[in-house]
Amino acid sequence: MEWTPDARELADLELLLSGAFQPLTGFLGHDDLHTVHERGTLADGTPWPAPVTITLPDEVTPGEEVTLLDPEGVPLAVLSVTERGHDGLAAGPVKGLGAPEHGPFARLRRTPDEVRVDLGGRDALAVTMRGPLDDLGEIVATAKELGAVILLLPLAYGEAGPGVVRAALRARDQLPEGTIVVPVPLAPRDEPEIDLELREHVAFAYGASEHLAGPDPVRIPGPPHRRGLVVFFTGLSGSGKSTIARGLRDALLELGTRTVTYLDGDVVRHLLSKGLTFSKADRDLNIRRIGFVAAEAARHGGLAICAPIAPYAETRAEVREMAESVGADFLLVHVATPLEECERRDRKGLYAKARAGLIPEFTGVSDPYEEPDDADLTIDTTHLSVEAAVGRVLDTLRGGGWVR
Ligand code: ADX
Repeated sequence: MEWTPDARELADLELLLSGAFQPLTGFLGHDDLHTVHERGTLADGTPWPAPVTITLPDEVTPGEEVTLLDPEGVPLAVLSVTERGHDGLAAGPVKGLGAPEHGPFARLRRTPDEVRVDLGGRDALAVTMRGPLDDLGEIVATAKELGAVILLLPLAYGEAGPGVVRAALRARDQLPEGTIVVPVPLAPRDEPEIDLELREHVAFAYGASEHLAGPDPVRIPGPPHRRGLVVFFTGLSGSGKSTIARGLRDALLELGTRTVTYLDGDVVRHLLSKGLTFSKADRDLNIRRIGFVAAEAARHGGLAICAPIAPYAETRAEVREMAESVGADFLLVHVATPLEECERRDRKGLYAKARAGLIPEFTGVSDPYEEPDDADLTIDTTHLSVEAAVGRVLDTLRGGGWVR
């Protein structure tokens, strides 16, 4: 079977294959995870600080070989599954297929063995970086004291990855000649102490004799009016979502201070989601597509307005995550006009048809709508004019600094 791991798993895979995670040669199962957690060792007693795991679909059984693909479908490695755990975890050794590395600064990546050859037995002071270095003097002094070469290891992972490598290259220009820069795709671990131990472990794998952890990056997200924003309306059919969303779009275009992408539910279903039904699976796919496009717009600092029914809380949360993972903000607006009012208005005549059994799986009638408990703004349009409703959203945007 073939499987595309997520970004964190792919980063770990690269380190398993390059030898940076030595002595680990594969993903960990529950026995090892248990002892890693309890004593910081693998089940056989080998010191190892952190979880390195992969989740596979339930149908994969021990003994099976799974080809791991990158997101573009290039085979990267074969995982020989030795153990399945609950929560989908799959353990087993991985074998690389020699796929060429790509991505920003791929040409700078080196295996620990290659770096050790470069070092040629000299002592090295490794500095692992997740952001710019603030005290080059300390690094120079420590290296001098140790008589060591400086090895900068920018931990290039995720959106911030290329920036960390650039910071390392800038630092190299101000550090003694012979300073080496090698990007390492080490995803951060949740617990700071474990993260630090793993950084140290990787640094030693690259041949370092001493390790300094660079400072934690200071996130300066930029002012809200320059940050990407996804304004996501959710609510029943006929609740007024589209009307408010359109009014918001028009008001923003009149102000002219933000670029706007407009993804109304009915509009999306004419092209982007054409052919999808109203089954749970298709609704989820529809919302994920909307989330994907909205996040791309927001990635570039745009403001995306989405207005589908989006009846499922979990899928709405996924879209929030998609937006936040590109550094954008996410605002959930629940247009909470009650079903009775939506049905009383019945502008498109769909409720009557749904009640007559002509439209199956109709939200609110014969299909669920999960009320949000995480809405940033709730609007009931029963006794509210369109202008007033749009005004409330605009006030929220002004209040948060997203619109000036
Ligand atoms: S969602 O559930 O996937 O978010 P979406 O917003 O795209 O729904 O589409 C909802 C619109 O499709 C409604 O405004 C209505 O015009 C139309 N529609 C047609 N069939 C259904 C149905 N079974 N349930 C809800 N809306 C439907």
